Amino acid sequence: MSPGTFDPVARVFAPDAAGANVRLRGWLGKSRSSGGILFLLLRDRTGSVQVTGKRDVLGDAAFDAAEHVQVEGAVTVEGTVHADPRAPGGREVRATKITVVDAGEPFPIMADQTEEFRLDHRHLVIRSPEHVATFRVKAEVLRALREFLDREEVLETTPPILSGNAAEGGAEAFQIDYFGRPGYLSQTAQLYLEALLVPHERVYALTPSFRAEKSRTPRHLTEYQHLEVELAWCDLAELLDFEERMVVYVCHTVAERRAKELAALGRPPDELRAIATPFPRMRYAEAIDRLAAQGFPVRWGSDLGTAEERALTLEAHTPIFLTHFPRELKAFYMLRSGDDPRTVEAADLLAPEGFGEIVGGSCRETDVNLLIERLQQTGAPVAEYEWYLDLRRHGSIPHAGFGLGVERILRWMLRREHIRETTPFPRTPSRHTP
Ligand code: 4AD
Ligand code: MG
Repeated sequence: MSPGTFDPVARVFAPDAAGANVRLRGWLGKSRSSGGILFLLLRDRTGSVQVTGKRDVLGDAAFDAAEHVQVEGAVTVEGTVHADPRAPGGREVRATKITVVDAGEPFPIMADQTEEFRLDHRHLVIRSPEHVATFRVKAEVLRALREFLDREEVLETTPPILSGNAAEGGAEAFQIDYFGRPGYLSQTAQLYLEALLVPHERVYALTPSFRAEKSRTPRHLTEYQHLEVELAWCDLAELLDFEERMVVYVCHTVAERRAKELAALGRPPDELRAIATPFPRMRYAEAIDRLAAQGFPVRWGSDLGTAEERALTLEAHTPIFLTHFPRELKAFYMLRSGDDPRTVEAADLLAPEGFGEIVGGSCRETDVNLLIERLQQTGAPVAEYEWYLDLRRHGSIPHAGFGLGVERILRWMLRREHIRETTPFPRTPSRHTP
């Protein structure tokens, strides 16, 4: 039968479905038979419905074949929709024909298996209702981001993933053998976006980024989806304004379009609808004072890790911008603050409820000599950045940009304990299969 000749299960639940003849195809949730009647729970991408089949209607051979289909086996069903208050959803399909597509082997996924086992069988586990809902929300987040950027006239571009530059700092890049020369998997598209900025003025890229950090934390992946934006003629205030409007647009759009999935995953959509601009802004110096007052062993110059970010946002219900970090803590390309040269014009956006950084952004240094000085201080091979330095020699302008971790924002929106639940095949220091 050609694709599209079957009605999806959702049609079964249409108001006028009772009495309708339908053809379904899908996978078995569970099945049982008693007294010559078969009860199947059939699932397709639109939902699931109970299918009943009688031996005297289907015939012995077809009944026996259907009876032996395993959980997650595939079948097609022809039948009639009936209202039945005993069935889940109040409807069932009484089959006139059941065809086995793949009877399947015993499905290995069961309740109460260890997390390691589940990660080893991720290719099967991702059929769970929780993962189905999660990846639908993720698709909506990606769509909303692109919609927002399109409306803001930011051009989508395609920077490379393979590069001879380590970009953020060599320590955390995956190095590869590029035909006998060192190459790196991209940690950020930023430097390329800065090159694309001059002709287009507003650019973005949505690419995988790779981080060779051995951090075994609930918020680090070694491969993640990175949305990066670069804006010409933009200062820090304008950058934060853009970021917060984007985050609010994503929250509201997803709350609108994926309310059911959000609720099923434990995030009432109203909580995302309540996210509104402006987000509070807090300087790094103030954050240090607050943390010190709470007993954290921090002072000016301390890097803020997971625990510190958590403490700063645990009570918050809206994201918070942390701004004006010490220069030494941040990347070489960040613009020195005019009012305090010890700090840079940078901001991290921290998600509320303790979830921590979801966006990192800054104004970019425009002065070629200051860039060279910073590269030398960080021990980077200046010669490899010559092409980037050229950008400051030919029409250098004030500009700013940011990177948003898609799995990070999703982890907060869906309140997931571990970031690996926000991506189908998580890549972490201990695992890059399946
Ligand atoms: O703060 P980061 O390192 O900033 C940059 O890479 C800039 N060059 C971006 C730019 O300005 N174009 O990373 C940006 C964001 C973080 O805020 C975080 O959300 C996410 O990327 N991120 C990670 N997400 C998952 N796993 C990791 N290991 C991540 N590292 C960063
Ligand atoms: Mg950062």
